[in-house]
Amino acid sequence: MRMYDLILKKRNGEELSREEINFFIENYTNGNIPDYQVSALMMAIFFKKMNSRETADLTMAIVNSGDILDLSAIEGIKVDKHSTGGVGDTTTLVLGPMVAALGVPVAKMSGRGLGHTGGTIDKLESFNGFSVEMTNEKFIGNVNTIKLAVGAQTGDLAPADKKLYSLRDVTATVDNVSLIASSIMSKKIAAGADCIVLDVKVGEGAFMKTPEAAFELAHEMVSIGNNVNRETIAIISDMDQPLGFAVGNALEVKEAIDTLKGKGPKDLFELCLTLGSNMVLLAKKANSAEEAREMLLETIESGSALNKLKEFIAAQGGDSSYIDDVEKFPKAQYVVPVISDDEGYVTKIHAENIGLIAMELGAGRATKESVIDLAVGIVLNKKRGDSVLKGDVLAYVHANDMEKANEAVRKIQKNYVIKSQYSENIPLIYGVVTK
Ligand code: URA
Ligand code: CA
Repeated sequence: MRMYDLILKKRNGEELSREEINFFIENYTNGNIPDYQVSALMMAIFFKKMNSRETADLTMAIVNSGDILDLSAIEGIKVDKHSTGGVGDTTTLVLGPMVAALGVPVAKMSGRGLGHTGGTIDKLESFNGFSVEMTNEKFIGNVNTIKLAVGAQTGDLAPADKKLYSLRDVTATVDNVSLIASSIMSKKIAAGADCIVLDVKVGEGAFMKTPEAAFELAHEMVSIGNNVNRETIAIISDMDQPLGFAVGNALEVKEAIDTLKGKGPKDLFELCLTLGSNMVLLAKKANSAEEAREMLLETIESGSALNKLKEFIAAQGGDSSYIDDVEKFPKAQYVVPVISDDEGYVTKIHAENIGLIAMELGAGRATKESVIDLAVGIVLNKKRGDSVLKGDVLAYVHANDMEKANEAVRKIQKNYVIKSQYSENIPLIYGVVTK
């Protein structure tokens, strides 16, 4: 088999066989096929597309390029949740404790933030002492005893995806449904979950800019998951404005704690209830989504979810006293208001740009080597649909550098669209895709 023939075939719009897909992934992972040939194939796939069979075969070839985690030592049905990436998306920190409090085992492999989206591990490191470094035995032991552990993704899970994703990133071939679906699903399958709940974001702050594109991606991923015996459900949710109010590491952890105390932003809480009830349902701890929702609400009212967060933070070496005394979290030196010079209604908050502005303040990484500042970020004060008067505070910038703060204030003002009328009705949840 020759890579040249695969490129030619796809360039001419033909289907690749399972053997051909396995050949290219195996040999690319081993270093036998150069980047330039794979770049050409990615571009051919981008233009000529792959069908569902090819996409499923690509996914499993990527899974088989590395280790597959064996979580069989964990009791119960393991449900993983994955978001396609949003701005200010703190759901994992809220959902993890809520569903774990109901006895659903959550064995989460997480990543660090890159670009305009944040990472759960960075956020958790706002707790002094918290660490994701632990042996496999400890990880599994923690999930069995307290039902919740967060680990760092190890190097040997889906190594082909690492190479492919980096290559796609610099060759303008990221936004293809088959390539995104196989990239995401391969990592989830290799991470050993029995069931997967996907949060597919739609809007300007997401990979998928339209509901049609998001539903297409969701259908593709749900079909891959169910084809390989991992029951998979996808929720399509809004990312046309940041989720909740806070964007930034310690700021988002505080927002998650507020939410677990029953005082969080409405959109964040509602999304957590929707994703969480599907997790509880897939784990067979409830008979209906309605029942699961009631059970989740009870974990907030009784305080069991908040206690679960404390248990989890302490079990991974973190100082859980921060939860009762949030003043202990890293705090920025300056808090600067963003003042509105318009009046009317907020019709849009450009989510991706808000994420990038937070990154420039130091909350995120421009490159993998960047060092982040846990304290800084943005807290929105007005969201889509809110009325605004001249002089109102749109948002607060938390910064450790006054020059950067002023720059952020100017940019945030530009990314709020204020008009005299607001009549759109953009839903938080667009729909649920099941098999
Ligand atoms: N997230 C991934 O993990 N892979 C993609 O291709 C796109 C988003
Ligand atoms: Ca948030």
